[in-house]
Amino acid sequence: MIIMVIIMEGKETKKDGGNLVLIIIIAVLFVVTAFCAYKLGVAGRSVVDDTNLQKGGNTSVPNEVEGKTDYLVLVNKQNKLPSTWEETVELEDVKNAYDEDIKVEKEALAQFKKLREALLKEGVNIELDSSYRSVKRQQEIWDEFTEKYGEDYVKKYVAVPGYSEHHTGLAIDVCLKKDGKLIYENDDMMKEKEIWAKVHKKLADYGFILRYPEGKDSITGYAYEPWHFRYVGSAEVAKEITEKGLTFEEYLKQNK
Ligand code: DAL
Ligand code: ZN
Repeated sequence: MIIMVIIMEGKETKKDGGNLVLIIIIAVLFVVTAFCAYKLGVAGRSVVDDTNLQKGGNTSVPNEVEGKTDYLVLVNKQNKLPSTWEETVELEDVKNAYDEDIKVEKEALAQFKKLREALLKEGVNIELDSSYRSVKRQQEIWDEFTEKYGEDYVKKYVAVPGYSEHHTGLAIDVCLKKDGKLIYENDDMMKEKEIWAKVHKKLADYGFILRYPEGKDSITGYAYEPWHFRYVGSAEVAKEITEKGLTFEEYLKQNK
């Protein structure tokens, strides 16, 4: 374009109307440059819109740069799974305690394996129960639990399909193995207070938090779930949340 302008300028400036041609070319150049700058700006812009996220607004925009897993994504009763989530997360296949094929976010799974090994050295055996769930699977769980325990129980313990942190692959439910036997029913697991104390003490070292702590229902929206851990991307963040006794919602609000 610039070469064309120089050539045209040489030819046209000697003629009547040469200046007009030059002005048109400059105007065209200006429009093209402005358009390119706009496109580059859009492509390079972060898709962060955490104002919405952390005010509890329903968002469909991940909290990180496009293409990267947002380990601090908030999915709760007010915040639906971001619509672009699947494009930004890498899930890995693994067997759970019942020899079923399940999926867990890659980094979360690697850290979970380390957590499990560390606990085994203390004589505590946690096993994978559930992690990534499709919306369809969450609906099945909702239906199963409604039939088994009734609607009041379900509202306290099971997320509405589309609003479960399990859709992210960053949440892990564990069951326990004690004396060679699996303990997986919610009521039975609740009784194992000593085991949970040991498990919860170790979570943050591997980047996990206890997502639904006791007595925080009014903030998290759910009753105490000693088995539900959430990977938050680093031991540093997990330790800050744990040491300050914050819920994930409170941490995000403080760090927006
Ligand atoms: N149990 C948690 C709240 C879920 O269903 O996602
Ligand atoms: Zn869970």
